[in-house]
Amino acid sequence: MNHTATSDPPDTSSRVGVVILAAGQGTRMRSRLPKVLHPVAGRPMVREVVEIGRALQPVATALVVGHAAEAVSAVAGPSVSIVYQTEQLGTGHAVLQARELLRGRSDVVVVLYGDTVLLRPATLRQMIDAARRAPVVILTGVVEDPSGYARIERDPAGQISRLIELPGGAPEYEALREINSGVMVFAADWLWAEVGRLARQPSGEFFLTDLVNVALAQGHSVESVRPAETVEILGINTQAQLAEANRIVLDRIRRDWLDAGVRMTDPSSVFVDTDVVLEADVVVHPNTHLQGTTRVLSATEIGPNSIVRDSQIGKDCRVLASVVEEASVGDRVHIGPFTHLRPGARIEDGVELGNYAEVKESTIGAGARMHHFGYIGDATIGPDANIGAGTVTCNFDGAAKHRSIVGAGAFVGSDTMLVAPVEVGDGARTGAGAVVTRDVKPGELVVGAPARPVPGRAPGEAGRDKRTTLIEAKEPST
Ligand code: UD1
Ligand code: MG
Repeated sequence: MNHTATSDPPDTSSRVGVVILAAGQGTRMRSRLPKVLHPVAGRPMVREVVEIGRALQPVATALVVGHAAEAVSAVAGPSVSIVYQTEQLGTGHAVLQARELLRGRSDVVVVLYGDTVLLRPATLRQMIDAARRAPVVILTGVVEDPSGYARIERDPAGQISRLIELPGGAPEYEALREINSGVMVFAADWLWAEVGRLARQPSGEFFLTDLVNVALAQGHSVESVRPAETVEILGINTQAQLAEANRIVLDRIRRDWLDAGVRMTDPSSVFVDTDVVLEADVVVHPNTHLQGTTRVLSATEIGPNSIVRDSQIGKDCRVLASVVEEASVGDRVHIGPFTHLRPGARIEDGVELGNYAEVKESTIGAGARMHHFGYIGDATIGPDANIGAGTVTCNFDGAAKHRSIVGAGAFVGSDTMLVAPVEVGDGARTGAGAVVTRDVKPGELVVGAPARPVPGRAPGEAGRDKRTTLIEAKEPST
């Protein structure tokens, strides 16, 4: 679901070019991470802006990069052209870098900042529409605290008469509370003619916003749009603003999924990343984090207290107080409490995984059970196998990883060590505490350390004979 787009039909009459300015450093974040790479609902903010632009179905998108250019370019996503601004000489200079790429290709040019993540495409469509009447359209808002923004002055008829950048502007303008968000839409031909002629500021920079005053001086009108929600103009400059933007985006995402039929017992404690996909009748309990590209199918219940990242979870599953990372889970699977599925865990239909079960890079076959603590790594567990409490695949010999295979319907007794590489055949059994260093034939029973076959035993008999050294847990599923 695209939580930024709305269902408005696209404006098909204008060819749209998008320029995203993201060359600045963002020093006020006080972070080693470049500002526009900070995540909002799991997406780097610059990527979020790319997606807002994408909703306009642009003919081309230019992402202007400078600081941390490689890292910023790497998250841009498909069909974005990277434009380098080697010296940060201001927003006007930044847009100029995109001229060669875009000139002649679009009717309007939408300029976005890499840190303005709350914009709605519908607002930009209004601006594109207004660009039929004026060469420059700006997005403004009336805010409580206008510090840090350029101010908008209007004449008695309400028309924009001037844009004032502060500092540099006269102090009498500081009281004005209508501010320039920085988001602008231009008639393309006019922009490309004028942006190369901007005057240099005393600071040495070229201000894109000077084009407002240029247009007015030429006798054009400058149009403005105010967004439906003032938060849309919020640019992120500090960690506090990032936290606020994140909260707003999460609210939108939760709202969208509730509308789509997802149930949340306490939405405020459910955290769903932008790219997550949920089906109707999914139930999400408190303190649950659904991250990355996670996908959850219908009627599955997750939480409380669960984290699911980049994983697929099927229908009718239960995930309680567990961590699931880069795993795939079939239908009707019970997970938790306190299960940890690590990358490469493939859990087939009807599996039951319980307390402190850890699975990595392994397939657990349909209907298999691992109700208690244990570690299954680099293994294939057959369907309907039983993995007893304390079972460990000893997959690492200090130098290399090896695989373990457990056959269909096998019964691995409590505290079995599977010293890989090793295979336990279909229907085979291991006694409690077995240290299995050699393959076990189908149907065979092995006991002890190192485990040896117990002759003459048919499968299923082992646990009934207390004279052997076998100690098995009481329930067959343990
Ligand atoms: C800008 C606007 C101001 C507006 C404010 C809103 C100008 C001159 N001023 O000021 O009217 O009220 O945003 O937040 O445009 N960037 C580049 N290359 C550069 C300089 C900047 O790519 O050489 C990028 C930055 O990474 C950032 C954006 O442009 O994403 C805005 O730059 P910033 O320096 O934050 O401009 P402000 O001074 O905030
Ligand atoms: Mg700024």
